[in-house]
Amino acid sequence: MSQSTVREIVSNNAVLHLPDGQSIELPVITGSENEKAVDISKLRAQTGHITLDPGYGNTGSCQSGITFLNGEKGILRYRGIPIEQLAAKASFVEVCYLLIYGKLPNQQELTAFEDNLNHHALLHEDMKTFFSTFSGQAHPMAILSAMVASLSGYYSEAADGVGGFDMNAARLISKIRTLAAFSYKKSIGQPFIYPDDSLSYCGNFMRMMFAVPARDYEPDPVVEEALNLLLILHADHEQNCSTATVRTVASSHASLYASIAAGILALWGPLHGGANQKVIEMLETIRKDGGDVSKFVKMAKDKNSSFRLMGFGHRVYKNFDPRATVIKGACDKVLSKMGIEDPILDLAKQLEAAALEDDYFVERKLYPNVDFYSGIIYRAIGIPVNMFTVMFALGRLPGWIGQWKELMDDPTHRITRPRQVYTGNTEVNYVPLADRK
Ligand SMILES: CC(C)(COP(=O)(O)OP(=O)(O)OC[C@H]1O[C@@H](n2cnc3c(N)ncnc32)[C@H](O)[C@@H]1OP(=O)(O)O)[C@@H](O)C(=O)NCCC(=O)NCCS
Repeated sequence: MSQSTVREIVSNNAVLHLPDGQSIELPVITGSENEKAVDISKLRAQTGHITLDPGYGNTGSCQSGITFLNGEKGILRYRGIPIEQLAAKASFVEVCYLLIYGKLPNQQELTAFEDNLNHHALLHEDMKTFFSTFSGQAHPMAILSAMVASLSGYYSEAADGVGGFDMNAARLISKIRTLAAFSYKKSIGQPFIYPDDSLSYCGNFMRMMFAVPARDYEPDPVVEEALNLLLILHADHEQNCSTATVRTVASSHASLYASIAAGILALWGPLHGGANQKVIEMLETIRKDGGDVSKFVKMAKDKNSSFRLMGFGHRVYKNFDPRATVIKGACDKVLSKMGIEDPILDLAKQLEAAALEDDYFVERKLYPNVDFYSGIIYRAIGIPVNMFTVMFALGRLPGWIGQWKELMDDPTHRITRPRQVYTGNTEVNYVPLADRK
């Protein structure tokens, strides 16, 4: 962490009066975007009280200089640069560098970084045998997380090992593409296609996914551009569930590979990265059911039903998700450039329109999130539905790596160890087996 990341700007103290008569002054920290935080780090030591915040909706777990997000205003910036500018102008590889190293690379730095990625695209040949041990039904996220954890068995994971952090970061960013593509090839019974250094990051991935030895393969520039955009939009999102997981695991000084494997598993859940797969499945269900979106909006509002509109709502965005706005525009563009008419896109638009004028969704500030339209683009470019969350992991990887580095570079970081409010039995005696009812 650079010196500037940990801020010690303290405005007026807050005073907390407790029911037992104690009171404590708590420093108020101000972030660089003027957001305020009450620093409670001395609260338990000085008063014996802790705070309770299930889901951490009000709790800052760290100070970070990587991503700024304002959910009320729909702002997202990586290292200060608005997501809209990066989406329009940057390459995913530049964004990886930006998130990990804190600045956009100059030409020399970019070339060196790209060379490093090319150099590390291959997998250790022995790792190929792993793919054949998974069942044909294995979800690609199960394969990806296991394979990323396995990398530590093949490559020195010590941050001070050969090449250290820089090499491990490059290995991960490069090899995750190869792992993802190989797991797909395994699932459809096609031979693995090795990486090609002459292609862009996204072009290389598309080739490993879709080329076959019998034919030449040229990545479609429209597809490369779309993929580049989607990966950038997913690249970081401050302290979300998977990133918080990466930091938590890293705080025990687990290796980069172990921490990222944990992040991949956290991302898998349908309330997080798994939502993009669920959106398409939901839209397919609506289509097969006759396409009446109002029926599903009604079901999402029914508290007796567990059905939710997938791709709607967000813990922090309460106005709009700026990534969803960019993706929605790209969706129309990509599909029309590729000459694809997808009835699912029309259904998605109808569903969005119906929900946005419904009081239930308006009152709760539930808007389409990044996953609502991303699946439609992935589908158009040929990515199978069960690989959608893998694509999210590819995009989120540089964010996880940057956050891992920031934590490790912070000499003041401590192991993550939340407290709890215990609600179980008070002391009871052990009952011998023969005496139990
Ligand atoms: C993203 C998400 C997990 C955020 O959860 P959260 O911040 O904990 O918000 P809550 O689950 O407390 O929801 C607040 C209210 O909105 C409702 N709600 C939230 N998302 C909803 C959805 N997608 N469909 C229907 N109702 C929803 C909840 O039922 C709750 O209603 P209540 O106040 O009457 O009890 C949640 O909106 C969700 O499950 N969305 C669908 C999954 C998804 O798209 N995830 C990807 C996120 S990028």
